[in-house]
Amino acid sequence: MNPQDSLYSDRFARYYDQYSTGLDGDVKFYVEEASRAGSPVMELACGTGRVLIPIAQSGVEIVGVDRSKDMLSTAREKLALLDGDTRERIELVHGDMRSFYVDRKFKLIMIPYRSFCHLLTAADQRTALERVHMHLESDGLLILNLFDPRLDLLIADQSYPETPLRKHLEFDDAVSGNRVVVWATRTYDLQRQVLTEDRIFEELDGSGKMVSRSYSDLVLRYTFRYEMEHLLELSGFQIEALYGDFQRRPFRYGGEQVWVARRRG
Ligand SMILES: C[S@@+](CC[C@H](N)C(=O)[O-])C[C@H]1O[C@@H](n2cnc3c(N)ncnc32)[C@H](O)[C@@H]1O
Repeated sequence: MNPQDSLYSDRFARYYDQYSTGLDGDVKFYVEEASRAGSPVMELACGTGRVLIPIAQSGVEIVGVDRSKDMLSTAREKLALLDGDTRERIELVHGDMRSFYVDRKFKLIMIPYRSFCHLLTAADQRTALERVHMHLESDGLLILNLFDPRLDLLIADQSYPETPLRKHLEFDDAVSGNRVVVWATRTYDLQRQVLTEDRIFEELDGSGKMVSRSYSDLVLRYTFRYEMEHLLELSGFQIEALYGDFQRRPFRYGGEQVWVARRRG
C-alpha cells in the first residue's frame, strides 16, 4: 500500500465519515452544478460517497472513481440502503485519478474536498488533468477545490522540524462506541510544496482507558492560485470562475480555491 493511502484504509476508512464533514455548503454546490450539467457526471476521489450519493438522489447519473478499496466498500454499504432508482444511477470504479479509464464521456467531472492535493507532483497533476480532459465531452466542465496556501502557516515553524503535537479533533466511534481522540503534528516541505500531517488516533473506552492507538499520515501538495491557473490552461481548459467558497463568493487569499473550467477543443 502506498503510505499516503493509510488514512483511507482499514479502520481509518470507517472513521472517515465520522469526522470528515466537508466544507461549508460544498454538497449543495456540487448538487446544483451536477443538476445544471445533467447526466452523466463523474466524481474523482469519491471516497465513501459523501457528495456522490446526494447527486444521485437529485436524479443525476454519476460515476465515482477512487483508489481506496476500503473507502469504496464503505460507499457500497451506504448504496445498499438507497432506493433502487437512486442506486441504478451510481457506478463505482476502483481506479486512480492519474490512470482511470471509463468508456463514456461526461458533461461534468468534479474533484471535491481538496482531493486534487493528493497528487504530490506537477507531473501527477498534469497526468490527472489529461485524464479528465479525455473523459469530458467537448464543452464539458471540470470543477475542483483546493485550499489556498497561507504563507504565514507555511513559514511559521520552519526553524523547527514539526509543529507541536496538538489535539486535532475527537468523535465517538459509531461501531465500538469508544471515544476517538486524534492528535496531529505537521511538517511543511517548502521545497516540494508538500505538507505532511502525522495523525495519532487514540480510542478510549467508557472509563477513559486507551484501548488502541493507530497512526496514519495525511500528505498533501499545496498549489498556489496562479500555479493552478497555468496548470489548467496548459492542460486544455478555459477558466470560467474561481470562487473563494461554495456560496460562490470571490476568491480571497488563504481561503478556498473553487475552480470551474471548461474543456477547450
Ligand atoms: C478527502 S477524501 C474525499 C472523499 C470525497 N470526495 C468527499 O468529498 O468526502 C480523499 C479521497 O481521495 C482518494 N484518493 C487519493 N488519491 C487518489 C488518486 N490518486 N486517485 C483516486 N483517488 C484518490 C482517497 O482514497 C480518498 O477517498
